[in-house]
Amino acid sequence: MKDSFIPFSRPTIGEEEINEVVDSLSSGWITTGPKVSQLEKMFAQRFSVKDSLAVNSGTAAWHLLAHSLNIGPGDEVILPSITWPSMANIIEHLGATPIFADVDKDTVIMKPSEVERLINDNTKAILPVHYAGAAADIDAYKSIIGDHPITIVEDAAHAIGSHYKGSEVGCHSDAIVFSFHPTKSMTTGEGGLLICKDPYIMNKARSLSLNGVGKSAWERLSQSSANYELTEPGYKYNMLDMQAALGIHQLKKLDNFITLRTVLVERYQNLLSGIGTVQPIGFVDYPIKHSWHIYVVKLNLNLLKMSRNAYVDKLKSQGIGVGIHFEAVHMLEYL
Ligand SMILES: Cc1ncc(COP(=O)(O)O)c(C=O)c1O
Repeated sequence: MKDSFIPFSRPTIGEEEINEVVDSLSSGWITTGPKVSQLEKMFAQRFSVKDSLAVNSGTAAWHLLAHSLNIGPGDEVILPSITWPSMANIIEHLGATPIFADVDKDTVIMKPSEVERLINDNTKAILPVHYAGAAADIDAYKSIIGDHPITIVEDAAHAIGSHYKGSEVGCHSDAIVFSFHPTKSMTTGEGGLLICKDPYIMNKARSLSLNGVGKSAWERLSQSSANYELTEPGYKYNMLDMQAALGIHQLKKLDNFITLRTVLVERYQNLLSGIGTVQPIGFVDYPIKHSWHIYVVKLNLNLLKMSRNAYVDKLKSQGIGVGIHFEAVHMLEYL
């Protein structure tokens, strides 16, 4: 790799994050504790909800939610095939069936007409992706779902800070999951967060995130009674205070990060306009604020006279890090 290699992504970590992590390290308590609670409260406040649940990945947030919604054998979940495979994996792990919907060729957002085509009595949830940071058309999905008992879960792994029709994504549906992977617009190293408007589901997901015993080590060992119960076998998905230490400051800086990304995007748009070989993907035609998690281009392979993979390799050999977002899940070997 050349010294001058431009990475696909690099987290922006400042003194505030570093000092907060050091504070966590020197406090004597580094796993789930007060800093995780602080981050959860900051999210709850931002989204005007009672509660949010910070966990160790976006995938874990979806797993806890899907389990809490009792998604299981015989159930179907509609999701775009252009997504990260972990989201489909969870549906498989729960014994349910992922149903892959096509995306709009231009915007790469799951088509409402596909939801209409695929929906049936077995559909338990739909999991649209706010692709690259552009909000999916939640109202269009809602009007198709109508009175059916189907949960809309927004996959906002790309879209923390994005808006849909005037308010932040997550305010328009039943539940939302975020990812704080280091390539995302804000990071906790690895991490994720769940918000669900149903308090019963939130409580269940919280308990499941702590092996099913309902209390974190912080609560058991210091705050509340040391007793615990096992109500249902859960998972070990809790976020660490060391991770939340990053998130507390990343969230404070998020809107500023998005403003800076927007300036860079304008530069890309100008520089790439009129280049036939590389075309930015299209914009949706309803009002959104884009968070620009990634800047996605389509390649005109006829003009380029080479394959996509050859083009990617060439960019990399010239010191430019790129990724493929995504390989269509239904085309992968397992399926
Ligand atoms: C669209 C989408 N959904 C979900 C995830 C999963 O997030 P995590 O890596 O935090 O589990 C990702 C991760 O890249 C993603 O891109």
